[in-house]
Amino acid sequence: MRIRNKLRDLQIVSTAKIFSVLGRFGYGRRLIEGAGRTRVGSVILGWLLGYRRSFGTLDEVKRAVKPYARGGHENPANVALHLELNRMARPSDYAAFYYLRDPLLCVKKIFDLGGNVGNLYYCYRDYLPLRKDVVWTVFDLPETISRGRTLASSRNVPNLQFTDDLQQASGADLFIASGSLQYFDRSLPELLESIGQRPRYILINRTPLIDGPDFAVVQDAGHIRVGCKLYNRSKLIAQFERLGYGVLGEWQAPELRLSVLDRPSSSVAAYAGLWLEYR
Ligand SMILES: C[S@@+](CC[C@H](N)C(=O)[O-])C[C@H]1O[C@@H](n2cnc3c(N)ncnc32)[C@H](O)[C@@H]1O
Repeated sequence: MRIRNKLRDLQIVSTAKIFSVLGRFGYGRRLIEGAGRTRVGSVILGWLLGYRRSFGTLDEVKRAVKPYARGGHENPANVALHLELNRMARPSDYAAFYYLRDPLLCVKKIFDLGGNVGNLYYCYRDYLPLRKDVVWTVFDLPETISRGRTLASSRNVPNLQFTDDLQQASGADLFIASGSLQYFDRSLPELLESIGQRPRYILINRTPLIDGPDFAVVQDAGHIRVGCKLYNRSKLIAQFERLGYGVLGEWQAPELRLSVLDRPSSSVAAYAGLWLEYR
């Protein structure tokens, strides 16, 4: 990072810390949101928060964070972190297990959107009755896929495959989007529309959903910064219903929260999970 960017980053990180604390209190929220409603105030907030302000689209947020992203999703440390985080199931995985356990007996083909190097596969096979002949296909970014393939061959797991082609989801019995649909500018139902033979079951987990209109922010994980879209929950569910899916289960992922610094009232106290079936 160039020195000018480093200084700017330092300023943004410090400002973000102050806003994060202020946003936890009623008067702080009123102060920030009141300022944001005026023209001058919103320009000043936008400048102070830089890439940590809210944006209309994922593209805009990705452009703003690029110089500060530290490699984003494809930072090698991110792969290690996901493997470590999923060495054991996390709280939101147990809700997913509840809905998965019975259908899995007849699920032969699983498509895992944003499945990293297969961290969910390695975790879930220890908890769930996966079929011996199951084919679990991970869709992810090119460098992550390549690391996933190397790891899978060193662990000798032929059931785990990798692809960068979304069309490979066609014919899957189960589509998983765990901690991933927020990184796509097209909503999951829009992505599914282009798939020939859609899945019967859909598992969404660890996703920040909101009540107001969609917008985008940066998730600052410390070691990386990535753009993330916050989808409106009711609109997303209505899109699924138009495709013929119904929501059979809904839960919170208490292990994950997201602060929206310039709109603290829109902060997400817990991510969400959904279980959907084609009816
Ligand atoms: C937070 S991780 C989720 C990992 C895992 N599914 C879980 O629940 O623990 C998000 C994953 O989405 C992937 N991802 C983000 N943007 C993507 C894109 N445009 N195409 C494919 N994968 C993407 C990242 O590389 C990363 O592996």
